Amino acid sequence: MTASVPAGAVHTRRDGDVLVVTIDHPPVNALSADVRAGLARAIDQAGGDPQVRAVLLTGAGNNFIAGADIREFGKPPRPPALPDVCNQIEACAKPVVAALHGAALGGGLEVALAAHYRVALPNAKLGLPEVTLGLLPGAGGTQRTPRLIGAAAALDLMLSGKPMTAQAAVAAGLADEQASGADPLAAGLDYTRRLLAQGAKPRRSRDGQALADKAASLAAIHAAGQRIAASTRGLFSPAKILDAVRAAVEQPFDEGLRAERALFLQCLDSPQRAGLIHAFFAERETAKIPELKQAKPRRLDSVGVIGGGTMGAGIAVAVLDAGLPVVMVEQDEAALARGRQRVEHVYDLLVGKGRMSADERAARLARFTGATDYAALGEADLIIEAVFEDMDVKRAVFAQLDRVAKPGAVLATNTSYLDVDRIAQATRGPADVLGLHFFSPANIMKLLEVVVGRQTAADTVATGFELARRLRKIPVRAGVCDGFIGNRILAVHRQAADMMMEDGASPYEIDAAVRDFGYPMGPYQMVDLAGGDIGWATRKRRAATRDPALRYVQIPDRLCERGWFGQKTGRGFYLYPDGARQGTPDPEVLAIIDAERQRAGVTPRPFSAEDIQRRYLAAMINEAANVLHQGIALRPSDIDMVFLSGYGFPRYRGGPMHYADRVGLANVLADIRAFAKEDPAFWKPSPLLVELAESGRDFASLNQAA
Ligand code: 3HC
Ligand code: NAI
Repeated sequence: MTASVPAGAVHTRRDGDVLVVTIDHPPVNALSADVRAGLARAIDQAGGDPQVRAVLLTGAGNNFIAGADIREFGKPPRPPALPDVCNQIEACAKPVVAALHGAALGGGLEVALAAHYRVALPNAKLGLPEVTLGLLPGAGGTQRTPRLIGAAAALDLMLSGKPMTAQAAVAAGLADEQASGADPLAAGLDYTRRLLAQGAKPRRSRDGQALADKAASLAAIHAAGQRIAASTRGLFSPAKILDAVRAAVEQPFDEGLRAERALFLQCLDSPQRAGLIHAFFAERETAKIPELKQAKPRRLDSVGVIGGGTMGAGIAVAVLDAGLPVVMVEQDEAALARGRQRVEHVYDLLVGKGRMSADERAARLARFTGATDYAALGEADLIIEAVFEDMDVKRAVFAQLDRVAKPGAVLATNTSYLDVDRIAQATRGPADVLGLHFFSPANIMKLLEVVVGRQTAADTVATGFELARRLRKIPVRAGVCDGFIGNRILAVHRQAADMMMEDGASPYEIDAAVRDFGYPMGPYQMVDLAGGDIGWATRKRRAATRDPALRYVQIPDRLCERGWFGQKTGRGFYLYPDGARQGTPDPEVLAIIDAERQRAGVTPRPFSAEDIQRRYLAAMINEAANVLHQGIALRPSDIDMVFLSGYGFPRYRGGPMHYADRVGLANVLADIRAFAKEDPAFWKPSPLLVELAESGRDFASLNQAA
């Protein structure tokens, strides 16, 4: 064995007649300019060293290569370009083997496909997730993958963005062999030596024959096109992926590569790429909070849940799914039985759909116990309250928890709006209390607002974030205010929608405009789904404290007074005949709206989809700026994450703050000032928005500062 030659992020050393090339660029071996240059040098070295008979590519640490360095996108390109490095690897006159472990994703898999042979360890994940970043595989992936595994399987990989296991990759023909063990170097050397012993020569993916049946390949492209038309509504890159694979089928390899390059650059330039990559990083930023620098999480081995309604049951399932035991406490045996049934129902559906085995269902439910006596919570490390949204009820619960919880237990409320500090004051240990605001359905929705009260201790907060980590949720730190980050902002843009409705837009036009923006559903469809009675109760609660200067649109109340709460009552803003899930417009609702307009003395005027979107978004952005200004959210990208993971904001638009930056804060402010001429009480520009817009800065500048 010769001495190792360090070469920046890529090290080479000879092991007998094999040149071992190790990509060593923490944390995930992304293909930065240094790595690309190092790979190119290593291949040159292999070509020029007569003692080298084969090359082995491996990754240091937990991964082979996680892909292109996403941080470089949008900046001036630095040579060598990854497609060129891949072509150089493929052209190498000596066999090149890639030993894959952990992530072999995106450009990482493309490097592996440019190699001549691939061995995959059991923990390897082989995938082309570029579509999730608004891109397509741009280093030969769209050309080599279908030549190896056929158009249909390649399109599945590229359009879903989901990785394959080592076993599936070998079965599909993406990898050649699955190794046992956990050491990529040992597995790679073993495989390379066997190949050399068999006299293996370079075998290039560009020569793969899996597209030989042209008609079948074109049919696969056509079928995928029909599939994505519905499932990837509004997205730019899926159609480009189809075009690239079509080029692979119809053109020689080198021309296909050129087509891929042109399509990749179109994606790279698209605002969707910027939005999706912003979302990728925003998702990883939320857990960076000051408390985690000061304190460690407390012990977290068991969880109590109070209330077995919609939320309590969903939270219990989320916790059981994470492998923790749950004790649920309800008011009485009948309510407890209903709570247990709700939990069982979730698992029954999964078993019914074949997504969970009966044994797994039994194992999860074995961790679940129920009680009607609060004493059953005495051993729980963390207790989450999900009882009725009523301050007195919640304070009574916390006073009781104060008596039964063990010292050091973390006490959490799932309240949607109520003052966490007042709830905490019902205990003798407000430092142990925080808000953990889950979203419905709690076992599915990714967002968890972690609400930090005035007296919440740092290790209590850290425990909330630890729970989120175990539950695989996206935790966002929020301060105390009415509605925290998400619901507070939602209330304001919902109000803007109601005002437009009274001024002339129908709820169906508003929903359509919001869907056109990219939301899966509009605000009135959402009300009908969640139940109009929930908002009605909140409005009644706030009636006494409502600012009389603010316009109050009564249309939703008129529907609630008739018992039209949405899907569950068969009608709301829409009609749901015979239990239909998809609503149809209701002429009676339009008549009620007309009557309300007359009562309010409003002459209706038309709103275009663009008018609706501008007002809806301006209201959202302005209130979000207030939330930031008041320190309720730590950074703009946290607000983006709240809306992306909890409220259906289209991910490719990056979230409201990122979107505002793209539109230009001066333009958003100009809109708000124009709207303020009609209604200055509602459209009050946020001081932070004014400050940023007038100094030519954007929200992103505050992300960097956070
Ligand atoms: N480029 C730059 N940074 C990256 C990165 C990438 N491709 N992938 C991850 N990182 C960073 C993260 O931002 C994070 O940084 P931080 O510690 O400063 O917050 C750090 O690496 C660790 O990442 P995770 O927290 O996500 O670590 P996990 O262990 O949970 O997950 C992973 C590892 C599965 C590799 C996950 O990070 C991942 O999915 N990465 C992205 C993979 C991807 O999308 N690759 C395709 C890129 S596009 C491409 O290759 C184009 C090509 O076709 C030309
Ligand atoms: P729900 O009405 O479905 O369930 C509440 C449950 O609490 C009932 O089963 C009731 O029997 C039980 N309960 C009431 N008092 C109790 C007590 N003293 N001890 C034990 N159990 C008691 O209500 P839901 O929708 O589950 O909401 C619960 C909380 O979660 C509320 O604070 C709500 O604001 C919040 N929330 C609700 C969301 C939703 O979409 N439904 C979303 C996020 C938060």
